[in-house]
Amino acid sequence: MNTTALPIQDYALLSDEECDTRITAAKEKLGKRCIVLGHHYQRDSVFKHADISGDSLKLSREAAQSEAEYIVFCGVHFMAEVADVLSRPEQVAILPDMAAGCSMADMANKINVERCWDELAKVIDVENQVTPITYINSAADLKAFCGRHEGIVCTSSNAGKILEWSFAKREKVLFFPDQHLGRTTAHQMGIPLEDMVIWDFDKPQGGLTVEEIQNAKMILWKGYCSVHQVFQPEHIDEFLKQYPETKVIAHPEACFEVCQKADYIGSTENILKIVREAEPNTRWLVATELNLVNRLHDECKAEGKNVHFMSATLSMCSTMFRTDPQHLTWVLENLVNGVVVNQIKVETEDAMFAKKSLDNMLSVL
Ligand code: 13P
Ligand code: SF4
Repeated sequence: MNTTALPIQDYALLSDEECDTRITAAKEKLGKRCIVLGHHYQRDSVFKHADISGDSLKLSREAAQSEAEYIVFCGVHFMAEVADVLSRPEQVAILPDMAAGCSMADMANKINVERCWDELAKVIDVENQVTPITYINSAADLKAFCGRHEGIVCTSSNAGKILEWSFAKREKVLFFPDQHLGRTTAHQMGIPLEDMVIWDFDKPQGGLTVEEIQNAKMILWKGYCSVHQVFQPEHIDEFLKQYPETKVIAHPEACFEVCQKADYIGSTENILKIVREAEPNTRWLVATELNLVNRLHDECKAEGKNVHFMSATLSMCSTMFRTDPQHLTWVLENLVNGVVVNQIKVETEDAMFAKKSLDNMLSVL
């Protein structure tokens, strides 16, 4: 068996059509030994090769249950880390392009989260009063942090249930990195905005007073997704003036004001489900990433459904876009040759504690 990796440079100039043929051939050769998971934000030329597509929760479950030796994750870095943590030790998680990160995930890191925890500990009894929740869009060491402190992971499709689980254990939640998902979900549960504070990780004590921390139920990390920031409530108002029959649907990473005006809020998988199951000849205004919206429009137009992207400014997730057919061909052909490239391996102790917080999540639903 050849153990020298085929170099990525040899793939850079391949056409997408050539990649199509070679990806199909490599997948046939690998058979059940390899599964390709694809997030809904992947570009079409990659997405079509996914054996299973889904949102973060569905893909985590698939990774946990898969029998395949190789799990090739067409998504972003934290997703491949979750696949590594939840799969068996002999399975290999692969990210076709190592530069596929998540800018929101990068807004929280071990240093600033531990500093936050230490600063909170000076004014409240953190271990007994606060459940840390990390959105799945975070590095494995932050999932491990939650595992170490009896916390939990959530995704955009289960955040409500996870908040209920957390408040059943302790009276406060520290929620990172996405303030918007935390705020909208807590508000849906009946927690007033006055009971939520923002932890500004660039300021001492999060920029909060002792009293503000003591009174808060939700401590929201000052993180956000730049892709979902572009959607504004004015976009909805303007669109409804022209097409008042429109139903509005938003990903919970969109800001609170957009979510408040939306008829539905859902994860990527739920957005697809709701629009697919809707009556024919309906119109939809969608606040999430462009590749998903375009694909959904194409899929549903035969039923007379019109699916529109919410903002006039096009907003794609540039890191999801890093995974191209050239990188996918490269990792698969290397696997055919018996060579693993771009393996994602979480350090053992972090993996153990990250698994704890992920298992907590999977046990909730
Ligand atoms: P979903 O879990 O809804 O697919 O969201 C993942 C993500 O990164 C959205 O920005
Ligand atoms: Fe991260 Fe936003 Fe891209 Fe999702 S859309 S992967 S949250 S940067």
